[in-house]
Amino acid sequence: MAISRRQFLLSSAGILAASQLPRLVLAAKESDFDYVLTAEPGSAELIPGINTSILGFNGGYPAPVLRAKQGQRIRIKFINKLKEPTTIHWHGIRIDIAMDGVPFLSQPPIMPGETFIYDFVCPDAGTFWYHPHMNSTQQLGRGLVGTLIVEEAEPVTFDADIPLCLKNWHIDEKGEFTQLSIPRYAARMGTPGRYETVNGQHKPTIEIPTGGLIRLRFLNVDNTLIYKIALKDFPAKIIAVDGNALSKPVPLTAHEIGAGMRLDIAFIAPEKTDEIIEVQNGKGRLFFGLLKLKTVEAKLPKRNQIPSLPVNPIPSPDLKSAEVINFLFEWSGAMTPTDKNGKAKHEFWTINRRAWEGMNQNNLPAPLAELKLGKTYIFDMKNVTPHKHPIHMHGHTFTVIWSNKKKIKPYHTDTVLMEKNERVKIAFVADNPGRWMFHCHVIEHMKTGLMGYVSVV
Ligand code: C2O
Ligand code: CU
Ligand code: CU
Repeated sequence: MAISRRQFLLSSAGILAASQLPRLVLAAKESDFDYVLTAEPGSAELIPGINTSILGFNGGYPAPVLRAKQGQRIRIKFINKLKEPTTIHWHGIRIDIAMDGVPFLSQPPIMPGETFIYDFVCPDAGTFWYHPHMNSTQQLGRGLVGTLIVEEAEPVTFDADIPLCLKNWHIDEKGEFTQLSIPRYAARMGTPGRYETVNGQHKPTIEIPTGGLIRLRFLNVDNTLIYKIALKDFPAKIIAVDGNALSKPVPLTAHEIGAGMRLDIAFIAPEKTDEIIEVQNGKGRLFFGLLKLKTVEAKLPKRNQIPSLPVNPIPSPDLKSAEVINFLFEWSGAMTPTDKNGKAKHEFWTINRRAWEGMNQNNLPAPLAELKLGKTYIFDMKNVTPHKHPIHMHGHTFTVIWSNKKKIKPYHTDTVLMEKNERVKIAFVADNPGRWMFHCHVIEHMKTGLMGYVSVV
């Protein structure tokens, strides 16, 4: 079957929602809103033939793929149909604080039955995502994770543009949830799930057009895992990291993305039909397949080059005038038997000797640092724990400038994966006023101490 480029674009956006394609749907539109989105209990067929009870955006999984245009507003009407409060955070978007979706820091929790209008401008193009910022182990772990694509202001043409959400579910063979967090794992690399999915399917085969210029957008929406993305015996280039275009594409060998991180790659598909490209997750020397790409005949203009994406308009840090702030990430291993309500209390991780476990209105700790609006800061971060941490900051995109473990070619990102015992320096202009979360994106780490915020005034 021959397919046109237009069909592929539509398919990957989900309008055709054919079974072989990533089962993605667009959210309903309503006049005045670009999207209407709910969070609600629902079900998903993660294991073929078995329905798993999940928490889902619009009640399903995968969540709707939202698309915005760089430099333009997006308006989302969000309705909380959960039995508990929630908020939606737009991960990686340099957003106005009022729209950042962090309870108590940027907005009151959205109570069950309430509606909240998220209305913001997306200054940067790329692959972003959205998720609640409350009861995250459960809410994200049970399915509230979705893709937000911001299209380049100057469109860059691809023959297929496919978001791939990676998530390993904590479910058993009957599709029932198992424990999402086990303290002894929370104190180490986090509790891994047992059922690997890409867009909600285990090892799917996704069709791509023969000879087409293909863009794959990997999103690690998992609570815990690090994925190491590689194509088996097929050349591809990295075009963007965590939503931010590289000034020049670089060859992909294997690239690690921690929880919350993204990777955009591009390649030209084989000319022959029924060719298979395997996308793998490398774990040490062990590799396993994540999905397969299969070529189907398409009549496309000949492609011979991977385009560079326009670099996002991130303000350049002024390193000479920068103020350096030190951050120390430590493993504390303290397991205080109970808190005042008699609940077991776990504080495994600290930032600058402080653990911040939960959040509530009456108990906002002081910020980790107070930053002056418009000034450049260098965060000199030391991970002295024996585990890796994807360290994420809200409201700003930073530049990774130095590491004691590897040679860094400075790049833009919102999350940096720190190796054990690694020291990393990041720099950014504190140009966005507000109170911004600064945390590890391994959800259990964040929930057991590795979390704080900085305030920009
Ligand atoms: Cu994905 Cu606090 O963020
Ligand atoms: Cu974020
Ligand atoms: Cu961590």
